[in-house]
Amino acid sequence: MKHIVMAAAGLATGFALPAVAEDIKVGLMLPYSGTYASLGNEIEAGFRLGLETYGGASGATFEVLTEDTEAKPPVALGKAKKLILQDKVDVLSGIVSSGVLGAMRDLIDGSKVPLIVANAGNDEATGEACSPWITRLSFSNAQVNRPMGTWLHDQGVKKVYTLAPDYAAGHQMIDAFAASFTEAGGEIVGQQYTPFGKTQDFGPYLAKAQSSGAEAVYVFYAGGEAISFVKQYDSFGLKADLPLYGAGFLTSPLYVNAEGPAAEGVTAALHYVPTIENEANAAFTSAFKAKTGHLPSEFAVQGYDSARALVEAVKSGASDRASLGAALRKVSFEGPRGMLSIDPATNNLVQPIYVYQTVAGPDGLTQNVLAELPASADPANGCDLAQVSN
Ligand code: BEZ
Repeated sequence: MKHIVMAAAGLATGFALPAVAEDIKVGLMLPYSGTYASLGNEIEAGFRLGLETYGGASGATFEVLTEDTEAKPPVALGKAKKLILQDKVDVLSGIVSSGVLGAMRDLIDGSKVPLIVANAGNDEATGEACSPWITRLSFSNAQVNRPMGTWLHDQGVKKVYTLAPDYAAGHQMIDAFAASFTEAGGEIVGQQYTPFGKTQDFGPYLAKAQSSGAEAVYVFYAGGEAISFVKQYDSFGLKADLPLYGAGFLTSPLYVNAEGPAAEGVTAALHYVPTIENEANAAFTSAFKAKTGHLPSEFAVQGYDSARALVEAVKSGASDRASLGAALRKVSFEGPRGMLSIDPATNNLVQPIYVYQTVAGPDGLTQNVLAELPASADPANGCDLAQVSN
């Protein structure tokens, strides 16, 4: 466990602080090993930049305790119990895997510790299994993929083959895409789910996709699996005849350079790309690049906005588990993704989705935005948090 205290920026820059500054203990739960390790490091970098940028104005200090969840629900549950019971954190943030989030839901709800989700898109956490203690500053799996079914059909693609890792996120992302694609009149001609975190050789799966009669392939892969998949798709010779589409984590700016030319021409959807043009994003991208040497990805902005949400909650007067939980659900601010608004019924962000293509630019691979698809709230599926006060 890393344990770092981030003093309010006011101390460094000479602003006056209130006589007694609150100390907010944050448990940051991320994968620092396994297929999603790079995502964890990127979210932490964004989170720390968010605290550094905005924390000073709150008059509080933020003590950040990190724990490695890997992408393993039992590991994460053990770490969460330690942070809640032993370290007595005021708030938790992080969580990359939908499987981990699903496993943690009852612990969070029962122990009444607020959780700011900085990645995991598990639809149920802001749907049928929602909790007033869970607020999501990232995306939901359906939100990213639902608009792509309609968009792809509108581009004239009628038959698609799908692939994804065999766990909650893989199933939810593909289900959302397939529902809107078939509703638009398209046909899913075949589907496969690959063993999560274990598949090294995608060849047998790609062979089936190739002979399926599909006009395109739509996938969800992220982290190390995305790099392997995109490279093998290209070296299998599929890219020219069977264009590759997907949830945009596939060609995330975080690791697209590791994919190299294999990623060129892949078209995908995300809630953030660093090429979005607005003032807040210009400030964020240059500050993040100055810190890390690379442009921020969707994972970085999720960490940054999660930290900002925490700061805004503290600024509104919250300082312990109960008051932070209540305040987090109500935060609203203008960030690199534009004006952020949290759906009061589900505690999920409502945000536009960008269809982008990875193209060669003057400084390497970059994201060319092809379309901005309007924001729409996910179905609440019985969740009605607007009625709940915590
Ligand atoms: C998930 O498990 O929810 C997830 C993991 C990596 C990228 C996007 C979603």
